[in-house]
Amino acid sequence: MPRAVGRNVLRKEGVEKVTGVARYIDDLTVPNLLQARTIRSTIPSGEIVDIRYDLDPKAFTVVTHRDVPGRNIVALIEDDQPALAENTIRHVAEPILLLAHEDRDALLAARVDIVYRETAPSYDPEASPITFKNIAIEKGDLDQGFAAADVIVEGEYRMGHQEQLYIETNGVIAVPGPDGDITVYGSMQCPYYVHRALKVLLGLPDEKVRVIQTETGGGFGGKEEYPSMIAGHAALVALKSRRPVKLIYDRVEDMVATTKRHPAIVRHRTGVRRDGRLTAVDIDAVIDGGAYATLSAVVLSRGVIHASGPYRCDHVRIRGRATMTNTPPNGAFRGFGAPQTQFAAEVHMDRIAEQIGIDPVRLREINALRPGDTTATGQRLGRDTSALQVLREAVKRTHFKRRRRAIAHDNARVAGTSDVARARRGIGLSLFFHGSGFTGGGEVKLASKASLALTERGVRILVASTEIGQGTRTMHAQIVADTLGIPYDDVEVNAADTGVVPDSGPTVASRTCMIVGRILQRCAEEMRARLGKMTPKEYLRRHGPLVITREYERPTGMAWDDVRYRGDAYGTYGWACDVVEVEVDRDTWEVKPIAFTTVHEIGKAIHPLLALGQIEGGSAQGLGYALLEDVVMREGRMANASLTNYIIPTTLDTPRMEVVVLENPYQHGPFGAKGVGEMPIDGPAPAVINALRHAGFDLREIPATPEKIMAAHVEPQSTQRSRGSAGSP
Ligand code: MOS
Repeated sequence: MPRAVGRNVLRKEGVEKVTGVARYIDDLTVPNLLQARTIRSTIPSGEIVDIRYDLDPKAFTVVTHRDVPGRNIVALIEDDQPALAENTIRHVAEPILLLAHEDRDALLAARVDIVYRETAPSYDPEASPITFKNIAIEKGDLDQGFAAADVIVEGEYRMGHQEQLYIETNGVIAVPGPDGDITVYGSMQCPYYVHRALKVLLGLPDEKVRVIQTETGGGFGGKEEYPSMIAGHAALVALKSRRPVKLIYDRVEDMVATTKRHPAIVRHRTGVRRDGRLTAVDIDAVIDGGAYATLSAVVLSRGVIHASGPYRCDHVRIRGRATMTNTPPNGAFRGFGAPQTQFAAEVHMDRIAEQIGIDPVRLREINALRPGDTTATGQRLGRDTSALQVLREAVKRTHFKRRRRAIAHDNARVAGTSDVARARRGIGLSLFFHGSGFTGGGEVKLASKASLALTERGVRILVASTEIGQGTRTMHAQIVADTLGIPYDDVEVNAADTGVVPDSGPTVASRTCMIVGRILQRCAEEMRARLGKMTPKEYLRRHGPLVITREYERPTGMAWDDVRYRGDAYGTYGWACDVVEVEVDRDTWEVKPIAFTTVHEIGKAIHPLLALGQIEGGSAQGLGYALLEDVVMREGRMANASLTNYIIPTTLDTPRMEVVVLENPYQHGPFGAKGVGEMPIDGPAPAVINALRHAGFDLREIPATPEKIMAAHVEPQSTQRSRGSAGSP
């Protein structure tokens, strides 16, 4: 029988998606359905003084915070965010009340005027009086490290918001049951997060809340915590009206009101020897949490742990904080803090190389983490540490050094002539890594479970992990099929329905394959032993139904100290290197990435084509982060909340991508697999900015829009004495 792992088997839900049979939340309806709408604040900061309704109260259901039967919070990490504002307003688009009506036009025509008393908003994360979280990582002795340095290089790097822009906006349907129970269907990553938030908001026990994920058109982190909010709203209306309720956001509402990637400011101060060895790394990172804490603490955690990049250094200090501003809360977005901090780290590496006059590839080779080295948190790395391999492979494939010389030569030749119309080119790279699974002790606390149920033909997978386009169902079925030794087609995957599946934890943090896939593999091993030589049919006839459930087991030897921030931050890491060549139009200052190569070491590609899709898609999203995706905030409101003026890369903006997958197996991953979902988005932005540096543009900020590029332009003969001269931040 052909094995499934390592082959491009058909996606479990692929045919339904491509034939249009798959039904997303807005395709669904139920009898007696109400449509709901959210009334939101129009000010960034203040108090609600009065609410004036212009609607027929008998025809509408109106829900305010007074209708909340449980606690008026979106339960997550901190309990600071109300589901519906009571008096205080902390950001534009904060939900205040809900309206529902049978008819959508009548619903949209209803008017509610809110009278406010405004207070002064704060938009500067560094000046914020409220800090959600502080983290400090310390390794070695920083003073000793700086004393050993020949050169100290400083830099400050900034990045803006980024919108997840899943193709399907947020939406849910809530259906009330006869005994005050509630079922919510919707587009989401984490059914059990929604389940818990509903229990707290509605004051209901476990068994009275059921959450069922519907086919989901993308998430990218944007459906990690936000669905708890929208599900809570629909459930409140459903319980009050005793009717099913549909709540779907249009694109503008989704962009204005829901979470985005945290903007960040990261400062580096690095000690380096003339020969290129890093002697001291001092990093300070501030991330803008927006108005409420949401997941800022854990975004910051992943951010600081990745902040020094895939490099070894004995003396490291990393400080991070997440602070409050009066903008809509920022939250999970693919990469979860690591794209921000590794952008800074990798742009800083090229500036170090420039200042000590060393080749940027050589600088990375000297400092790249090797097996047996320790990370900033003191984690000793295993044999599957591949920083050098991915770097060397990417450099070799792109003839990086030769190409870099040729382009520099070409740019210099053109600069001295009147040929100003010629596009300028540059080539740059980035080396990066990404931890798989929850940070620190997170997986132990989650204690995820997965189950396998024996069927007449084979087995059914029961997990809360969601298919959001990335291939969860397919990849899990491949792992189970091969472990059991049965055909892939004989493995079914149950819907992510909290009424049926165990809590496998959230579908986030590059954990669905490595962590949940491994638990499933253990279930399959046990089931195989139980079956012996029997077919499923024989077993069921003789012994009756069989369901095997296993829980996450931490690999032996792993340890994490959450107080000192020391130890094994992740089970393991993926490693990658991006090379990008750019062309800058000297009339419009637009940048076109013209060639892109990435080498990703991911342990094992369970489904090579799906892995490729993750890498290409994440890389494209990273190119957008670098150059195009500009969230314009005016008075605390996203001013360009539509697809006409929030620009993401299309096929025409995306170069042909050469993707190379290397496999250096992780001993505790299923078939050696590590995570792959997030890592691809960490690398493109610094590679692009480094390519622009090579082209003569000294940039420290993304998105690198044409305006910023024009301002950063330095003629090549003066590149060495650009505005960011040695030592200045
Ligand atoms: Mo995520 S950004 O871990 O959904």
